[in-house]
Amino acid sequence: MMGSAVLVTGGAGYIGSHAVKALRQRGRQVVVYDNFSAGHRLPVSGGCTVVEGDIHDTARLTDVLRSHDVGAVMHFAAWLSVGESVREPARYYHNNVAGTLSLFDAMLAGDVRHLVLSSTAAVFGNPEETPITEQHPTKPINAYGETKLAIERALPHYDRAYGLRSIAMRYFNAAGADPDGELGEDHDPEIHVIPRAIDAALGRASFQIFGDDYDTADGTCLRDYVHVTDLAAAHVLALDALERGAPSSVYNLGNGQPTSVRDVIDAVERVSGRKVPYTMGPRREGDPAVLYASSARIKRDLEWRPQFEDISTIVETAWRWRETHPHGYSDKVLR
Ligand code: UFG
Repeated sequence: MMGSAVLVTGGAGYIGSHAVKALRQRGRQVVVYDNFSAGHRLPVSGGCTVVEGDIHDTARLTDVLRSHDVGAVMHFAAWLSVGESVREPARYYHNNVAGTLSLFDAMLAGDVRHLVLSSTAAVFGNPEETPITEQHPTKPINAYGETKLAIERALPHYDRAYGLRSIAMRYFNAAGADPDGELGEDHDPEIHVIPRAIDAALGRASFQIFGDDYDTADGTCLRDYVHVTDLAAAHVLALDALERGAPSSVYNLGNGQPTSVRDVIDAVERVSGRKVPYTMGPRREGDPAVLYASSARIKRDLEWRPQFEDISTIVETAWRWRETHPHGYSDKVLR
């Protein structure tokens, strides 16, 4: 008899915590497995079992899978900074590749055969055509993308040989915050453009645009921002599909709206009613000029319907969280 609980690695992190909330709303039993090196204790308090542990600890993971009646895994635990991955690839290979293989070993030992996992648009590198479909060639230009692609490429082999069925989710730019205001983005340091632009509007930090000499309409990079709550919903749909017997798959997740850094600034100014002071800087290493998704496949297969598609709505939820949490989760807002 297959277990019924869902183990969420990295469940105390940004996307993981939103997925935990979505699973709980579906009435699923959740076991959060996190080493709290980057995650936060607050977002996962209540309603689920929390185990402090590292994904490299195969024996511990195996024990947790068995003792908590786990039947499926959502795997979010990973390092995520493109720039850092260029400077410190070893950390990325150890955590994102070796750590994930350790999780797979535990799943096989614990007889858990359903997996939904985080991948990234960074597997594509500089796109040859847009919007980017799942069939687009994968040619990462940084170690982060390489580590995620290495795992993606292992998946069909684990499926064939061990019956481990999986759905890999290639996020474009995860953004926004829980519309209920319970959860948000709290990275240290914060590297992402929306929270940084918000901090600039609030006078908390300075902001620099990383290059305006790209071959795009306004010269800044184009990205595809997708709301974290919509990503969380997609994970729940993917798990449902696996449990119904769907074959292994990979999906691109974005809104298909190419949005420039200047568009982000405009949205922050609209939402906040404040100016975003900025300076113009050089290009950031490893940044493709244009990345936006076709999500037609997940819309067709899993009937994914994003609820927060336009950039103003996405920024609005991020703004509300960040304005009220200047120090992230260490500000316990009493409501
Ligand atoms: N940017 C700025 N100023 C900043 C921060 C970012 O101009 O202070 C620009 C970046 O150069 C880029 C855009 O804003 O053009 C978005 O940058 P983010 O750092 O917010 O996001 P990335 O597109 O670099 O990264 C995201 C995910 C990664 C994923 C990558 C795929 O966070 O996990 O997309 O390329 F790998």
